[in-house]
Amino acid sequence: MFAIRSGSTWEVRAPAKLNLLLEIVARREDGYHELETLMVPINLYDTLYLQSAPGGQVEATCRWAAGLTRGSASPGQLPIGSDNLAVRAVERLRAAAGIRDGARLRLVKRIPMQAGLGGASSDAAAALWAANLAWDLRWPRDALAELAAELGSDVPFFLGDGAAVCRGRGERITSRGSLGQLHFVVAHPPVGLATAAVYAACRSAEKPRSAEALVGALQRGALGKAGRLLLNRLQQPAESLSPWIGRLRDAFDKLDCVGHQMSGSGSSYFALCRNARHARRLAGRLCLPGLAGVHVCRSCR
Ligand code: C5P
Repeated sequence: MFAIRSGSTWEVRAPAKLNLLLEIVARREDGYHELETLMVPINLYDTLYLQSAPGGQVEATCRWAAGLTRGSASPGQLPIGSDNLAVRAVERLRAAAGIRDGARLRLVKRIPMQAGLGGASSDAAAALWAANLAWDLRWPRDALAELAAELGSDVPFFLGDGAAVCRGRGERITSRGSLGQLHFVVAHPPVGLATAAVYAACRSAEKPRSAEALVGALQRGALGKAGRLLLNRLQQPAESLSPWIGRLRDAFDKLDCVGHQMSGSGSSYFALCRNARHARRLAGRLCLPGLAGVHVCRSCR
């Protein structure tokens, strides 16, 4: 994650992510699930602006980027108060660091919500990163990551530098460096899925699959093999909760994708493509009336 300074304002781009593999290893005593997941950041970004402000308050505004209303989420429905994870992140850091200043935060959204793309988690990581700079706290990444894990299982991943295998609840990160430039078509339906509901309907795998074979295939550039190794153990429960997931699967099945599946706990769905041209071609051919958005994306960082 990196930030640009303009006067007293720090600007951070908060990327979305895709889960190329998401395995449910076990159900845990604390209600969470033990995971193994390969996540890659993609170039679909929210933008967060943050400046330090006197008076101890954390004030926030949040809007969709020009021209965007995401499916069922009208601009008025965006969380802007303490139900916004980015606001909670700044408040938690402020309390943990014991400082007096507050912050003014402006969030411009492009990542659809309840889509399994990690938008809220990425915004929270960006907020931690920007507040650390704006308040000149100089917390190391590891200290921010500890706080990030308290905010949400996916938040620490976004403090990292690219593709990573994440274990535990998702908060134990092993960076996988470059997996080469990957190209995707990402589609999201007009209705989202609630993460907790999808996890509540899932079952752990009898023989959990590791992400390492997929990482190896991507590192060797063996894209066809990688396509066959995609996996999302949450897709079946998501299909039982929303008719959109099966519709998306059928629509992507008709295209010559390298591989395709749902991302995270849904409801967005993606195809792994051979290159940028292939991704643009598939996006043009994807035929499913009622979709809220189709994006041609690539892996970033
Ligand atoms: O950690 P986060 O707040 O993003 O998780 C949202 C919900 O998703 C949790 O309350 C839990 O029900 C479910 N979850 C899970 N196992 C995980 C991550 C999330 O069961 N590893």
